[in-house]
Amino acid sequence: MKESNYGLLLKQIDSIVDQKVGFYPNLGNILALIKEGLSLFWVGTYIVKENYLVLGPFQGPPACTLIPKGKGVCGQSWEKEIPFLVPDVHSFEGHIACNPNSKSEIVIPLRDKDKKVFMVLDIDSDKLNGLGQKELDFFKEVSLLIEKIYRKSH
Ligand code: SME
Repeated sequence: MKESNYGLLLKQIDSIVDQKVGFYPNLGNILALIKEGLSLFWVGTYIVKENYLVLGPFQGPPACTLIPKGKGVCGQSWEKEIPFLVPDVHSFEGHIACNPNSKSEIVIPLRDKDKKVFMVLDIDSDKLNGLGQKELDFFKEVSLLIEKIYRKSH
């Protein structure tokens, strides 16, 4: 990822948000901006539904559709309510390989206005160590923005 792009990209994300429409059109555009702006393999979301995460809007190759609570990086991030930075997915016990090209990953849980996790943001790189602390910080900022849009309509 090109580090110098992060500040500009955050501004672009902020400016693309259309207050006239609800959550999903804005989420789709934000994910598209991120995927286009940075050389990432997969950028997407999983939505909390009962005991599962269900595949939500995403950009990239087809992915797993259902992830049980506590399974994989996404399921653990939801269960433990903490972000995960995984520089090498093979070193993460229980990692779910939706696609063998995914080598490093960031997952961040997003909270609604009652602080309940409603979705996780999942970012995959096809490079080992392709994601690090700077990327985690950037995607935490993006997550705050997505939460803000969600809380307006839910
Ligand atoms: N690798 C994830 C599954 C989702 S895909 O990367 C899109 C995990 O272990 O949770």
